[in-house]
Order: sequence, then structure tokens, then C-alpha cells
Amino acid sequence: MAKEIVVSGIRPTGFLHLGNYFGAMRNYVRMQEEYECYFFVADWHSLTTHPDTKELRNSVLRVLAENIAAGLDPEKVCLYAQSDVPEIAELFLLLNMLAYKGELEKTTTFKDKVRLQPDNVNAGLLTYPVLMSADILIHRAKYVPVGKDQEQHLEMARNFAQRFNHRYGELFPEPQAFNFGNQLLKVPSLDGAGKMSKSENQYATLYLADDDDLIRKKVMKAKTDSGPTEPNSSMPDYIQNLFQLMSLVSEDSTTQKFREDFDKPSIRYGDMKKQLAEDMVKFIAPIREKANAIRQDESFLSKLMKEGAERSRESASKTIELTRKAIGLKYF
Ligand code: TRP
Repeated sequence: MAKEIVVSGIRPTGFLHLGNYFGAMRNYVRMQEEYECYFFVADWHSLTTHPDTKELRNSVLRVLAENIAAGLDPEKVCLYAQSDVPEIAELFLLLNMLAYKGELEKTTTFKDKVRLQPDNVNAGLLTYPVLMSADILIHRAKYVPVGKDQEQHLEMARNFAQRFNHRYGELFPEPQAFNFGNQLLKVPSLDGAGKMSKSENQYATLYLADDDDLIRKKVMKAKTDSGPTEPNSSMPDYIQNLFQLMSLVSEDSTTQKFREDFDKPSIRYGDMKKQLAEDMVKFIAPIREKANAIRQDESFLSKLMKEGAERSRESASKTIELTRKAIGLKYF
């Protein structure tokens, strides 16, 4: 039986952090075994907010290297850059005729961007959800692993697919968000407020590119207090967070020991953070080193991207052929 198709886009802006790793990345890695996966770097999308392209090439290669280091296997998933698949642009153009100005203007991310960059409210920002829909529909994908912030875009993709099917005949499946249920791990930030993310406090987020000393510094700065004074005290949120981080990267017996120390109470948060810092270094360093090695191997990366683009275009050109036929754009 043919595998079901999954598409996901990776923004080339920003470094991968621990939240991405335990959230999206680990699920990507699981999906690559069971689905036909197309994962691409959304470089066209990045032009809507980052018109200066001096760093673009480097960012695209780096984000690919990090994703591979974190577990994506280029033999199993099709990895490519969006701009290497011109069929996406053609589908984008055709979908634009099914997208209404009013609904695009109402999109939450568009309104946010208008506020954030009032001097560059370009048409690409407005049609961002249409391009994203083309990314997905070009492979007639069934599932899209995305976070909550992308659900509105996905709903729009379903609407465009529906409108197309209704007008020109059934062609596109309606893509669904891939629901990981409670397997979706939230990684708490080090300042005790919210989860790790690239936009929040930089010092509270651990990046897969951080060097050993920076990891140690960040962990040692994490918020604690003078510790519990009575046995079996209740645990403040920011201490719970440290335990949660520990449970992700340390041996179970280590986490358990500190848990017992907390209950006694004989815990020393300084010691706990030192242990967490070392285990974090042990966890992150190999991924960072691997990402650096891959990033430096430009011939490996360019070969991989060429092959990815070819595989992606094979699937994309079939869809475009069917799309033209369905609309009646076929003259020879
Ligand atoms: N908009 C997505 C984000 O900001 C990136 C993206 C672009 C994407 N095209 C996509 C995600 C297609 C899933 C499918 O994260």
C-alpha cells in the first residue's frame, strides 16, 4: 500500500532550540518511518519578512544541517528548498484566484505582520497562506505537522482545496494537522515563565548550536530559591521545570535522587543545576558537532538538495499536470 503523504515547511530564520527538538523534531523523526515525507526549507516565505538575502544561503544550509543532525534521514525523507520547485509557484498562482482578499486580510499572522513591519506590508505577506497551501497541495498531502500558530493557515489550505475540487473536480485531499496528542512535549524555559521559544528571553532558551560554556551559564542562571524547609513541600513551578528538563536529558536515577532530596528536604539547587548543566552539555554537544560537520560539507549538502529537488519535482509535476487538465489549461 502506498504510504500517506506528509508535508512540512521549515523556516530558515532562527536556530533550532531544545523546544523544537523535543516538540516538532522528534515527531518528524518518527514520521519519516511511516509516511512519505516532504520536508522543505521555506525560503520564498522568508522573503516576505527578510528581504535582505545576505544571510539566506547560510541560513538555509544551516537549518538543513541542524535538522539532519537532529535525526532527519535524507534517505527516508525528501528534503529540498522551496525555491527549487517552480511547480509550487505555478500552483500558488492558480490558488490565488480562489483566495479572497477579505479572508487574507483577516488572517491573524497577516495582521500581526502589519503591526510588526508597517513599512513593508508587501503582497507576499498577504498571500502567505496561499503559498503555504501550494506547498502542501503540490504533493496532495494528507497530513501537515504544525503547531497551533499555523492552524489557521491549514484551515485556509483546506478551504482552497475544497473550492478547487468543487469548481474543477476532485483533485486535492483536504490536509489535516498531524495530531500528536499528548506526545507533544512542552519544554519549559529556564526563567520559569512559559516554554522555550526563539522569540522569548534568549537566555532562557537552549539552542542546539550553543557551546558548552554557554549551556552551563544558561542552566546555572535558571531561577531557583533557597529551597524547601519542610519535608514533602509543594514544588514551585520553576523548580518543577528544572525537574522536567532533567527528566529529558539525565538518567532516571539522577532525577529520582534529586526528587528524593527535595522531599527530605536536603536538596541543593546549585548541585542540581550543575548536574543538569553537565547532562545538557552531554546531550546537546554531539548534535551541535554533527550539525557543524554537515554544514561544512557543502558538497554533501548540495548533492542532497539537488536530489531532494528532483524527487519533489517528480511528485509536483504530476500534480501540476492534473491541475492544468482539471482547469482546462491544456492546448497540446
Ligand atoms: N508557515 C510555516 C511556519 O511559519 C512554515 C511553512 C511554510 C509551512 N509552508 C509550509 C509549514 C507548509 C507546513 C506546511 O512555521
